[in-house]
Amino acid sequence: MKVTVFGIGYVGLVQAAVLAEVGHDVMCIDVDEKKVENLKKGNIPIFEPGLTPLVQQNYAAGRLHFTTDAQAGVAHGTIQFIAVGTPPDEDGSADLKYVTAVARTIAEYMTDRKVVIDKSTVPVGTADKVREVMAETLQKRGSAIPFDVVSNPEFLKEGAAVADCMRPERIVIGTDNKEVIEPLRELYEPFNRNHDRMILMDIRSAELTKYAANCMLATKISFMNEISNLAEMLGADIEKVRQGIGSDSRIGYHFIYPGCGYGGSCFPKDVQALIRTAEHIGYQPKLLQAVEQVNAQQKYKLTEFIKQHFGHDVKGKTFALWGLAFKPNTDDMREASSRVLMETLWELGAVVQAYDPEAMNEAQRIYGQRTDLKLMGTKEAALQDADALVICTEWQNFRAPDFDVMKKVLKQPVIFDGRNLFDPERMQARGFTYYGIGRGA
Ligand code: UGA
Repeated sequence: MKVTVFGIGYVGLVQAAVLAEVGHDVMCIDVDEKKVENLKKGNIPIFEPGLTPLVQQNYAAGRLHFTTDAQAGVAHGTIQFIAVGTPPDEDGSADLKYVTAVARTIAEYMTDRKVVIDKSTVPVGTADKVREVMAETLQKRGSAIPFDVVSNPEFLKEGAAVADCMRPERIVIGTDNKEVIEPLRELYEPFNRNHDRMILMDIRSAELTKYAANCMLATKISFMNEISNLAEMLGADIEKVRQGIGSDSRIGYHFIYPGCGYGGSCFPKDVQALIRTAEHIGYQPKLLQAVEQVNAQQKYKLTEFIKQHFGHDVKGKTFALWGLAFKPNTDDMREASSRVLMETLWELGAVVQAYDPEAMNEAQRIYGQRTDLKLMGTKEAALQDADALVICTEWQNFRAPDFDVMKKVLKQPVIFDGRNLFDPERMQARGFTYYGIGRGA
């Protein structure tokens, strides 16, 4: 099938590459000329396992095209994905200006029937807005070409985006026109094997499904972080509690890992956006507000431990930091806990020596001017002469360090672990003062 994808961000690029991989003919449109040129040369703007070869191979095979030419994009696909960003505006609501701009463009150039699919995470009611903008634009052209607007949210995770997209657990389709179901079945047939993963519903339910999913996951995390704070005060171990409750199949083991707060481009933004949506219609979403507050507070957890250990005066101290990305297998630092940690330590006059397997360029881009941040080439180099180690991201290669070397290189054998990588008793036996989340010192 011929498919057009507007927006070559995370969601758009991964979706496009995966659709091309199964044989569809996919054209990607973006306003960013540099990005388009780079992609044609095989340079992928993000770090995502498996994505680079997928893009390069499908581009070489002529199934994946990149252009800034919106008119050509509209002409190409019967199916037109909108996968542009929906950044939060000042009050945290999702800003739809890019989505509506694409809707307008499609309506301006279309010469035959199109199925327009909202893939971006958009507030409930956006499909209606897209429809309105398109109808208005077509009317101005004096045209009555028919079109459909479908909500088909994406559920991929950064770091596992290609695999998630190749083997989706569900394909949510929100539509009010049964006629579009068949072309969408055809589009997704290669991903819809063994059992039917397509869940059909009305448009608003599909739009809300995306927010409800992310808010539920964020709620699980904030709940665990709250219990971890209680565990600490009550002398319990949250890791034991986690196993204890996860074994109940109604609760499950997923997304109940306590830590130094959730980050990324999705949970913080989507929880906030749903809060704003609720407030706009006169509903106080108390639970979601609490989820957000608990998370904001949790991002200060490690600095609280640091103050508890060193006292409030950490001026002139150096902290080794392992992990800058908001989670492993990505170079994304949006809303990362490491940023709150570093910015708080800098305010207190401390220096940070940081290492991350993938996010060094990103850290350089964001904080490159600072003299109180030293970006180190290896995790061992970050430890050199530091007063303590802080861990913000659970990269695999942080899990089995050489503890003897660590003890020698650090000025003091102190670790503040925001991801509970180690066993407190064993760390004590190894001679470390070890702070974990929900486990105390
Ligand atoms: C999230 C969802 O998991 C995806 O299903 C969704 O499609 C995506 O948002 C989106 O809306 O685009 P992502 O932001 O890539 O995916 O990352 P997650 O793996 O969900 O992690 C988010 C944050 O939660 C990370 O900072 C992670 O460290 C934290 N987390 C996760 C915990 O603190 N504890 C856990 O148990 C799990």
